[in-house]
Amino acid sequence: MVFTALVAFGVGALGSRPVTGQAGAPTVEEHETVMTEIRPAFRALRTSLEGQDAEDVAKQAGTIAKLLVTVEAFWTARKAEDAIGFVQTAREAASSIETAAQGKDLAAAGDGAKALGGQCGSCHDVYREELPDGTYVLKEDK
Ligand code: HEC
Repeated sequence: MVFTALVAFGVGALGSRPVTGQAGAPTVEEHETVMTEIRPAFRALRTSLEGQDAEDVAKQAGTIAKLLVTVEAFWTARKAEDAIGFVQTAREAASSIETAAQGKDLAAAGDGAKALGGQCGSCHDVYREELPDGTYVLKEDK
């Protein structure tokens, strides 16, 4: 239920901010919140792969797949075809990791994790900018 708690926190924290997105589309702030939630889940996923903890691998992959739903909605609203492709492939990879780990196939889960990480990187290369203070923002011209 950690996932539910994170989402509840995310939504609560954003509730007081102005809504800048299109009706129903996640805002830039919501997108960023989701990214900060994906980070620990992806870290935990890799740690659990190393530790051969199939149950936790499945759990973290499931969390990531759910978080990526918001990411997909964000890019779909922006009609950014390449980003939509990255996030859809990432979501499929996360689901395949979950299924593989549920079946205790950690080799396949490991392959899925590489595919997933590749999509994070591909999208970040195009759309993410690192500021001098080490924080990240959406590239200005995107
Ligand atoms: C379709 C595009 C896309 C995909 C896929 C994507 N990201 Fe991101 N990510 C971004 C953008 C754009 C930013 C910078 C703006 C923001 O934070 O929303 C970002 C920011 C981040 C940040 C920095 C958050 C902060 O502000 O401190 C982390 C960490 C992160 N992503 C992790 C991941 C991981 C891990 C994955 C893969 C499991 C992933 N992202 C997949 C687009 C993407």
